[in-house]
Amino acid sequence: MFDTIIKNANIYTDGNNFEADIGIKDGIIAELAKKGTISGGHKIIDAKGKLVIPGLIDPHVHIHAPFGNNIDILDFYSASKLAAFGGVTSIIDFTNTVKGDSIVEVVKNRKNEMKNSAIDYSLHVKYVESNEKLLKEIPEIIEMGCPSFKMFMTYKKAGVMIDDIDILKVLETIKKNKAMAGFHAESNSISEFMEDKFSNEHLLGWENFPNYKPNICEYEAVERVISYAELTGARIYLFHITTAESVEIIRKAKERGVDVIAETCLHYLIFNKEKNQGEDGILYIMSPPLRTDKDIEALWKGINDGTLSIVSSDNCSFTRELKEINLHKSDDGTIIKDFRKVVNGVSGLEERLGILISEGVKKNRISFNKFVEITSTNPAKIFGMYPKKGTISIGADADIVILDPNRKKALTKENLHYNLDYSIYEDYVGEYLPVYTIRRGEILVENDEFKGKEGTGQFIKRKLIG
Ligand code: URP
Ligand code: ZN
Ligand code: ZN
Repeated sequence: MFDTIIKNANIYTDGNNFEADIGIKDGIIAELAKKGTISGGHKIIDAKGKLVIPGLIDPHVHIHAPFGNNIDILDFYSASKLAAFGGVTSIIDFTNTVKGDSIVEVVKNRKNEMKNSAIDYSLHVKYVESNEKLLKEIPEIIEMGCPSFKMFMTYKKAGVMIDDIDILKVLETIKKNKAMAGFHAESNSISEFMEDKFSNEHLLGWENFPNYKPNICEYEAVERVISYAELTGARIYLFHITTAESVEIIRKAKERGVDVIAETCLHYLIFNKEKNQGEDGILYIMSPPLRTDKDIEALWKGINDGTLSIVSSDNCSFTRELKEINLHKSDDGTIIKDFRKVVNGVSGLEERLGILISEGVKKNRISFNKFVEITSTNPAKIFGMYPKKGTISIGADADIVILDPNRKKALTKENLHYNLDYSIYEDYVGEYLPVYTIRRGEILVENDEFKGKEGTGQFIKRKLIG
């Protein structure tokens, strides 16, 4: 007897399409049988006319995370609910390490904060400095199931940038321990130099934000850290890649055998930097900034040829009030524009599925299998969760999303579940939206209803392969 049966499933994985009945027992896919042959389930779902895919994994989100003196509006339960409406059954967030912290302790604390999630979760470890003691903690962190790290090549003034010499020491340890080093690759020197220049020239409006950190601010750092990966032989992961030049540098590095993996994010695939014009330009401030249509085209191409392996959301959910909170007002109450003071980041955790289908699959930029690959299978493989996650096969966790080709919605603030006072995606329609999101056999979303329970998500102990 199965707990749940999904009948007539038209299954799409990263490289395969097949029809089957799916038998789920104790949260696991226990059987995949010829269509119409399975019986005996407590709950039966007929997926006729629908598409069945593995649960989405978002390996780059910031939930309940401090940015300067602010914190976003979500907690792990509210985030997991809206994630489930977007077909996401697992997320990877970050520790909020500051200088002086033991990384073992920050992992333990952050795991505790994540406990109320209804979807499964894991952690990248932010590494903001290096010393003998911290390097010695790396093997223990890996043993705890967190073999991926994030280092900032910028934000020196905020105290989170790690020096190049320390990057090299971390990479050497990462290589020895078969882990992976992630990077926020932007040049601190270029951004500080440009910041002073733009400030002196009174160019601090949102419309100038993208030009203050031009393409070279990213690709200089990308090229440099790739050289460090080449020197040490360590595997690196590049978060939020945005420029055509970076894509080219990564492509060439891969060709000569450097162990580099890269992602882009949903917003870089659909918005260009014109979004920073006008009053609402403040809502589109994130780092790295938005780019040009030429860059957007290069990102889609990079996804298709495998240079970019993942599309994540980099979700940060701030109300308009929070984005503006550090800005001063003039006597007549108007905001004095200063992009240096704007809280960075945008949402995307819920919207990623619907927009990648409407803008990617439906516009023939990517295939449906590619969509599964970049949102589920690759995150699972790259971050050490495969084949438990990221596929539909016997023995895998029953993380399953059933998509309805006829279900579409405008991605307005009312139709999304963030409780934000705006949606940067309101001009977009999400297509093939989920009718069911199932996590380890438990129904989290059925049509428009959330049925999951707080605290039922589990920590995913990850182990890198290859
Ligand atoms: O603007 C962004 N991306 N905020 C999130 C932090 C980060 O660097 O990913
Ligand atoms: Zn970053
Ligand atoms: Zn981020």
